[in-house]
Amino acid sequence: MVERAETLRETSAWRRLEWHRADVRHSRLRGLFDGDPGRGERLAAEAAGLYLDYSKHLLTDETLELLRKLAAERGLPSRIAAMFRGDRVNVSEDRPALHIALRMPRSRSLVVDGVDVVRQVHEEQDRINALAEAVRSGSWVGATGRPIRTVVNLGIGGSHLGPALACEALRPYATAGVRYRFVSSVDPAALAEAIRDLDPAETLFVVVSKTMTTLETLTNARAAEGWLRDALGGEVQLQRHFLGVTAHPDAAAALGIPPDNVFRIWDWVGGRTSLCSAAGLTTCIALGPDGFRELLDGFRAMDEHFVTTPLGGNLPAIAGLIAVWYRNFLGAQSTAVVPHSHALRLLPPYLQQLAMESNGKRVTASGEPVEVDTAPVTWGGEGTDAQHAFFQLLHQGTVLCPVDLVALARPATGDSEGHDLLAANVFAQAAALAFGRTAEELDALGVDEREIPHRVLPGDRPTSVILARLLRPATLGALIAFYEHSVFTQAAIWEIDAFDQWGVELGKELALRLTPELGEGWKRELLHDSSTNALVRRYRQLRDAGD
Ligand code: F6P
Repeated sequence: MVERAETLRETSAWRRLEWHRADVRHSRLRGLFDGDPGRGERLAAEAAGLYLDYSKHLLTDETLELLRKLAAERGLPSRIAAMFRGDRVNVSEDRPALHIALRMPRSRSLVVDGVDVVRQVHEEQDRINALAEAVRSGSWVGATGRPIRTVVNLGIGGSHLGPALACEALRPYATAGVRYRFVSSVDPAALAEAIRDLDPAETLFVVVSKTMTTLETLTNARAAEGWLRDALGGEVQLQRHFLGVTAHPDAAAALGIPPDNVFRIWDWVGGRTSLCSAAGLTTCIALGPDGFRELLDGFRAMDEHFVTTPLGGNLPAIAGLIAVWYRNFLGAQSTAVVPHSHALRLLPPYLQQLAMESNGKRVTASGEPVEVDTAPVTWGGEGTDAQHAFFQLLHQGTVLCPVDLVALARPATGDSEGHDLLAANVFAQAAALAFGRTAEELDALGVDEREIPHRVLPGDRPTSVILARLLRPATLGALIAFYEHSVFTQAAIWEIDAFDQWGVELGKELALRLTPELGEGWKRELLHDSSTNALVRRYRQLRDAGD
């Protein structure tokens, strides 16, 4: 008889964690710190320029030990090795997930299905670098012979969020004289707003779409082409104004982008992990080849740390296991990320796609229902603005929501006085969330007793602080890779396929069917559910009614 494999909840570590949860539920962070003066130094780890303080979490050394056992029982080290070896870890799409190959050095080789993917990557990177140099130096000119002053990235999801984050975060390292704009939404207002003040003769569009079938991106590319034609005339060489990035060069050719202007990605690059590929073309133009290389170096430093470091000191593994602890044992339904850095304000939306598209799954890699809850909702916003918006709920609300506070020790630009204030806020928020303020303390401060219940902060609100010296390209690379591998760690525990996203397909299919039905010429009967039919009719009425 074939023995049934042990399920997640049957593993001995899982069962022990369930027992152990009761002990931790009753402990308080004040008590954990008072009883262990070294906790703040000890529960911290450092790698690739990032310092992770995880001491203000609702856990003990025993919790961490049991989480590491769980990781071992779920085969985390061998799953990491499989991803880095090029195994087909994207099971439902039957392909490897080789974003890690995008940042391997030229001297490495990784042969998958008989092809050295590292060689392929570097050949393409050389083309990207040459193009970036040409645009930056002004030797790439538009149809009328003028150099490019604005690069507009047209893409959505992974073809937008990474480049937008990187260009915004690393603005001090970007070329002077060239502006960068990003259009993702199919709302015509988005493109109109982005090009309103641009000169078509000096504008270069980078159309990024792995599939080249994404309607939002294709619609914006056609609209951009129309804008160029109107301004520059139908006969001029529009190819001086369009570059394409895709895994399907034929589809780019169908859009009218010539082969020399098309940069390759491969089906083994996931959209949400594609920043290091040609999908980062706009970023490479902004930073230049050296800056882009430094970004890749940062990713690689974290990759190497993730592969080689035992779980006890492994930053992404620690973060991923702590996330599992909150989600599955303490019932947290959401997790927030708050970069106290204006430059990193696009980190939360970037991480939303990374975490929720990867781990928002209900079946395991083998298609069985997952026995436990998977990805929490990821949300967040820029600190300190967030403190004046949603932090009230974090301090005194009734939800448990672990928060990542991201901080930098030095400002990239601007004065250091304002920067110290920013950092002070990070440390203050982490302490206030963890330790709160008791009724006795308020009483001792002379607070009116009627106010005391309203002013008590219960504490025990968990945070990680991720601290780096300065936001350089390498810092951003390490930070993103840290989150990629944390997400991978969680997926490994849940045994889900973190690299597919079938959930988004149905909506796309229905939108495709509905679009012509909204058109004025549609006369046939609507065959949707009664709500959708009513919405379509009402929409047409509202649209077509006179002013
Ligand atoms: O939202 C679904 C998705 O497939 C994402 O995974 C991807 O990043 C995005 O659409 C854009 O896809 P593409 O790069 O193929 O246009």
